[in-house]
Amino acid sequence: MAYIKLTNEAELPGDGEAKEFELAGKTICVANLKGRIMAIDNVCLHMGGPLGQGFIEGNKLVCPWHGWEYDLGTGQVADDPEAKLALYPIKIENGEVLIEV
Ligand code: FES
Repeated sequence: MAYIKLTNEAELPGDGEAKEFELAGKTICVANLKGRIMAIDNVCLHMGGPLGQGFIEGNKLVCPWHGWEYDLGTGQVADDPEAKLALYPIKIENGEVLIEV
């Protein structure tokens, strides 16, 4: 698989924030954890809440609908090790944000 352009670096969420991006009919959640940029599936495993509209608490991404918490390092739900969202490799090159989906 190859990296494709998701957005420009200037569009990335600020520290402690998450944001949604559309890519080929799919919505990706990009989170900024103390300057570390991470990309994760946008659809909450509980009832499909939009994680990119959630917020970050500690190192967890919190769903805006009912508060399920996702570990941004692994994509795992805090209370359920079996429930896990996909994380996507993401990198920044020459002001462009590239992602592998
Ligand atoms: S839909 Fe995310 S916590 Fe319910």
